[in-house]
Amino acid sequence: MFITFEGPEGSGKTTQVTLLVRDLQDRGYTVFHTREPGGTSIGDQIRDVLHDLKNEQMHPHTEILLYAASRAQLVHQEIRPRLAANEIVICDRYADSTLAYQGYGHGLDLGVLRQILGFATGGLQPDLTLYLDITAEDGLRRRHAAADAGAEWNRMDALSLDFHRRVREGYLRLIAEAPSRWVTIDATGERDTIHAEIRTAVLARLTTPDTLSR
Ligand code: TMP
Repeated sequence: MFITFEGPEGSGKTTQVTLLVRDLQDRGYTVFHTREPGGTSIGDQIRDVLHDLKNEQMHPHTEILLYAASRAQLVHQEIRPRLAANEIVICDRYADSTLAYQGYGHGLDLGVLRQILGFATGGLQPDLTLYLDITAEDGLRRRHAAADAGAEWNRMDALSLDFHRRVREGYLRLIAEAPSRWVTIDATGERDTIHAEIRTAVLARLTTPDTLSR
């Protein structure tokens, strides 16, 4: 099963991914946990270029091709082989981030983006996408607080409030187009409540691990 997490800045996705991975491992599942951009040595180098605050002159076309390049490497090197070995793959962001950020955020043509994504991933789609919803204002407030406490503040965080509003609107449209793949969770709740909601949604779609059913 291929599970992805999506959400605007400050949605708490990364914390929730970690909690879910641990929970599933404790239940006996083999889980591969990765993130985008990055997740491979080549992808991590691309991530540094994408997020470097020095690269503020980066053209949106360059940006999409770099996100796609990182994703192509991750899909071919890690995700497809793990899915073929029957592992659960959990990815912190995937192709929907490109549609939300580069498509709705920057206004790039969605049809062109979908073609690039298809080429990069060979058409691999998640089975389930957990969307942690928060407004751009609340999310950026959280990101500012985290950055003040030492967390990364990157080139995408630094884009305007309007950009981040368009990203959230974009996610809501993507969900409306294919609601069966998505589960939306209110990201403003308590950490443990959110985790319980995510766990329930995931367990409802999983079969018992092979190691336990034998
Ligand atoms: P994160 O590690 O906080 O999720 O940061 C990743 C950043 O990269 C976030 O601002 C969203 C952005 N991003 C895109 O703009 N397009 C993409 O395709 C991906 C995967 C991420």
